[in-house]
Amino acid sequence: MNINEIIKAKRDCQELTTEQIEFFIKEYSYGNIADYQASSLLMAIYLNGMSEKEILDLTIAMSKSGDILDLSQIEGIKVDKHSTGGIGDKVTIVVMPLVASLGVPVAKMSGRGLGYTQGTIDKLDSIPGFRTNLELDEFIRNVRKIGISLMGQSENIALADKKLYALRDVTGTVESIPLIASSVMSKKIAAGADKILLEVTCGSGAFMETEIRARKLAETMVKIGNMAGKETIAVVTNMNQPLGRFCGNALEVKEAIDVLSGKGEPDVVEVCCVLGAYMLKMAGKGDNIVTNMRLIQNQIDNGEGLNKFKELIQRQWGDSRVIDEPEMITTAKYKIPVEAKASGYVSAIEAKNIGQAVVNIGGGRFKKEDEIDYAVGIEVLKKIGDTVEKGEPILYIHANDEFKAKAQISFLENSYTIVPEKVEKIKEILDIIE
Ligand code: URA
Repeated sequence: MNINEIIKAKRDCQELTTEQIEFFIKEYSYGNIADYQASSLLMAIYLNGMSEKEILDLTIAMSKSGDILDLSQIEGIKVDKHSTGGIGDKVTIVVMPLVASLGVPVAKMSGRGLGYTQGTIDKLDSIPGFRTNLELDEFIRNVRKIGISLMGQSENIALADKKLYALRDVTGTVESIPLIASSVMSKKIAAGADKILLEVTCGSGAFMETEIRARKLAETMVKIGNMAGKETIAVVTNMNQPLGRFCGNALEVKEAIDVLSGKGEPDVVEVCCVLGAYMLKMAGKGDNIVTNMRLIQNQIDNGEGLNKFKELIQRQWGDSRVIDEPEMITTAKYKIPVEAKASGYVSAIEAKNIGQAVVNIGGGRFKKEDEIDYAVGIEVLKKIGDTVEKGEPILYIHANDEFKAKAQISFLENSYTIVPEKVEKIKEILDIIE
């Protein structure tokens, strides 16, 4: 068997065999297949797609390319949660303490920012002292002791995905359903949870811009998860605008504290309640989603979710005074308004641009080794369906570098479409795929 044959087979729309897929993943991981050959195969997959069997084979081969975590020392049903990426998506930071406060064990590995999206681990790193680089035994000990731990993804999980993702990022092959599905599910399968809840984002701030493609990705991942023996459910959420009010690492942690304190924006609260309700169901804590949503809301109202977050911060060496004094988390020097170019109703927001602007002012990385400025970000004042007056602020840029911030103004102004006729607010939850 050789890689050239495999590339030609996919180029000619043939179904790859299990052996061919295993060969590719193994030999690429060992460095025996060149990046230009792997890129060529990725592009053939991007253009010609894959069957369900091929996607499952690719997922399993990638999940076996690194460590497979054993969480059996943690009692109870472990439900992992994963988002395909969004703008202002602080759901993990809110929902995990909420479900943990109801007795669901939370052992969650999360990622860093990718492209124009910010990652949970970068956000948590903005809390003074908080450690996300835990050893596996400390991670497991935390869950056994307080019911929750969040850490950065171990370097050794799904090693082939790491290499392939970096290659996809620079070869125009990210937005492929088989490649995204296998990338996400290989990591989730290797991370050792019993069940998987997926948040598949859809819209101008997501990899999947249309509902048809988001649904297809969700259905593919649900099938793959179930075929791999892990019950999987996907919630398709609307990412046509940032979620909540803030985008940026420290700003999102402060907003998460607000949500857990009962002061959250309705869109974030709704998404957290729905995802939390499905996590409770999967963990065997109740089948009725409406009742479960009430249980989650109740943990916000009675402060138990916030207490659990405080316990998590203390346990992972963070300064838990931030819960009562969020201003202890770093704050940017400047707050620069971006103004509406016309009067009317906001009909569309190019959410990706808002994520990209956060990266441009230092809140994300252009290169893996770049340092992040945790304090910076964007505050979203106007959402789809809101009325605006010409010259009124629609966004605030929170920045430490005034020059870089001002350079984003026209880019951000042009990210809003304002029309004269009335526009409806958007729906947050688009579909549930079980
Ligand atoms: N997130 C992933 O982990 N992989 C992808 O391919 C896209 C989003």
